Amino acid sequence: MNHHISTNYGPLAPEGDWARAFSYHPFSPEIDRAEGLYIFDTQGNRYIDATGGPFCVNLGHGHPRVKAAIASQLDKFAYAHPTLANRPRAELCKAIASITPGDLNTSYLVSGGSEAVETAVKIARQYQLAAGRPGKYKIISNYDAYHGMTLATMSLSGNPGTVGRYEPMISQWPKFNQYSDYTRPANMSREDWAIATARKLDEIISYEGADSVAAFIATPHGSGPDYGTVPPAIYWREIRRICDENDVLLISDEVVTGFGRTGKWCGMEHFDVIPDIMTFAKGINSGYLPLGAVTVSDKVNEPFKAGTPFIHGFTSGGNPVAAASGVATIDAIRDEGLLERVNERGAQLFSHAERLRRHPTVADVRGWGLFMVLELVQNAEDRSYFPPEAGAEQRFQEIALSNGLVFYSTLYGANRRPVIKRGLPMWVSPAYTVTSEQIEEIVDRLDRTLHQWEQAMSAG
Ligand SMILES: Cc1ncc(COP(=O)(O)O)c(C=O)c1O
Repeated sequence: MNHHISTNYGPLAPEGDWARAFSYHPFSPEIDRAEGLYIFDTQGNRYIDATGGPFCVNLGHGHPRVKAAIASQLDKFAYAHPTLANRPRAELCKAIASITPGDLNTSYLVSGGSEAVETAVKIARQYQLAAGRPGKYKIISNYDAYHGMTLATMSLSGNPGTVGRYEPMISQWPKFNQYSDYTRPANMSREDWAIATARKLDEIISYEGADSVAAFIATPHGSGPDYGTVPPAIYWREIRRICDENDVLLISDEVVTGFGRTGKWCGMEHFDVIPDIMTFAKGINSGYLPLGAVTVSDKVNEPFKAGTPFIHGFTSGGNPVAAASGVATIDAIRDEGLLERVNERGAQLFSHAERLRRHPTVADVRGWGLFMVLELVQNAEDRSYFPPEAGAEQRFQEIALSNGLVFYSTLYGANRRPVIKRGLPMWVSPAYTVTSEQIEEIVDRLDRTLHQWEQAMSAG
């Protein structure tokens, strides 16, 4: 199909058909259909989905195996009464156990990442109660983390811009700064800095009192301004040791890194560290239907297996159609050798890192697997980003679209209140099925987008 871009890009007024959708600010173009790596708009223009939505459409759009599994389950039953046995639910839990490390063998199904993290928090608390440690309720996390948008998950996310306005309504749990190469002292190795950073967890636990801390949660790689920073393995091993010493559960939020995005099934596998609890969503079923999971170790499962009731549940938890799509996704990743593909195409993508870094607005290129993060800045010297009134993020998206690329964007650029001066993360995370020609095409178009963006932003 010819690639011809003829659309005006930008926000649409919330009028007409769009008027009744609360707080929905639609953007032009309007999506008509999607297939593989491509998205087509209602005018027939074709765009490459450069990030797989928010790093979730990992199999590409319309994967035949997942579509068939959904259709087949719909034909049987689309909803399972909670009091009846629901086989797709058991099959997905079994499939997850086959890909998670160590003894993370038992899963609780939910409808997305926020529900997964919220559920993990409740499991951690109920586990500590069942273990005879009723004082343990605090969940430690990192500043600038993102774990979801419910009130409990916002208690774990440490950015005043998003969290600030809800402050009286959310728990004030302790936090510390994540591992960052940017703040690493010049005379310190990554490993020494990793140990120093991890020891902050020990310090917080001491100050708070180990008998009050239930769990520590973080993503395997950095978040916020340090998104995509992969710490040395010693960081996670030290965190694991500190958690063990204090009967604090380690929760790895694998909503982004789970199901192959980093070249292994789970992010924590890179560090040979086995958490007590993992949370999943997004790539669990390539984002086709709302689905998430919390997977727990045998140790955490023990009291519940022995009869402690887990007081929790959602109407759509374990939905059979969503569960069937998850099983088909895991089968497809395994049978089509997609983890190997992620590693090959990821290496190809990162071979272009230097070319991208040459741009004055690209302060850093980092990441792993098929997950590249560009830190976009106005000033590479002090890493500051454009002021909100410059509309830089919006402009980037418009120029990318005119070059036939769709990027995920937090689109909170104009609202963000970074505590420290840092750039804006921009991701390159195409579907695992991306071809090597398509990787070259994405990089060429991104290169062009960056040039045009730099010209547009310096012209004001
Ligand atoms: C690490 C992490 N945890 C949790 C969530 C929340 O997931 P959801 O948007 O499915 O509620 C996200 C979403 O981006 C995430 O990146």
